Amino acid sequence: MSAPAQPPGRPHGQPSGLPMVRIRAVRKRFGPLEVLKGIDLDVPAGSVVCVVGPSGSGKSTLLRCVNRLETIDSGRIWVNGELMGYAERGGRLHALRPAELSRQQRGIGMVFQRFHLFPHRTAIENVMEGPVTVLRTPAAQARRQAAELLERVGLADRAHHYPAQLSGGQQQRVAIARSLAMRPSLMLFDEPTSALDPELVQEVLAVMRDLAASGMTMMVVTHEMSFAREVGDQLVFMDDGVVVERGDPREVLAAPRHDRLRAFLGQVL
Ligand SMILES: Nc1ncnc2c1ncn2[C@@H]1O[C@H](COP(=O)(O)OP(=O)(O)OP(=O)(O)O)[C@@H](O)[C@H]1O
Ligand SMILES: [Mg+2]
Repeated sequence: MSAPAQPPGRPHGQPSGLPMVRIRAVRKRFGPLEVLKGIDLDVPAGSVVCVVGPSGSGKSTLLRCVNRLETIDSGRIWVNGELMGYAERGGRLHALRPAELSRQQRGIGMVFQRFHLFPHRTAIENVMEGPVTVLRTPAAQARRQAAELLERVGLADRAHHYPAQLSGGQQQRVAIARSLAMRPSLMLFDEPTSALDPELVQEVLAVMRDLAASGMTMMVVTHEMSFAREVGDQLVFMDDGVVVERGDPREVLAAPRHDRLRAFLGQVL
């Protein structure tokens, strides 16, 4: 399969129906602790799934299994039609070679709570890094694309600033631009606004909202319920390694069916 392409742009809220991510019966344990206890989840291409749940419920682990930063103990995960981490031949699973796994992982962008920018590189150099070193994009072209991406996240005028010269919200927007520079077909966000001062949260959510509107497929772990309500196509509530409740965010938030979700919402809303 060729390099993962961005899904065709389409108005948000009209996913194509094809799953970009398909998760089936996924289990994961760390030693004696079973953290994911049989997760099934589909993320249609072009849609946004918001994952919420109490601390320790397995949200980050689930995202990390999707891009195979963690291996899974059983079950299957497909991204963009490809089984993550394995080739299936004659009914047998064969672990992918590292180069093949890296190719799969390159198609999946991930943004964390902490930004992990290179401190000694400017914003634009941070965004260019992946395309130049991994995709072998010529520097001039990578620089043009990086400038466009910085403009897209509202940072055209900060291109030559170092991370220490940027606010947390600006650094997180550079981190998003840096992920997008690899032209992912899926973006994973793990509490991207949790480390930010409250006044900086909205500028990052606005960038994520634009990205969703452009047709990007997104899995977003967040405590921002208004974002989930406005932007999410699906809300998934996890507790203790299982999906307890899921559905249209507006319906789920207006009328949660499970006590555990009601209790959780009572704490975060
Ligand atoms: N590498 C690891 N080794 C051992 N235990 C781990 C590891 N990573 C996560 N865990 C444990 O797995 C459980 C789920 O962790 P995870 O980070 O997925 O939860 P979470 O829902 O993202 O929580 P939070 O809201 O605090 O980020 C926790 O009990 C955690 O301590
Ligand atoms: Mg987490």
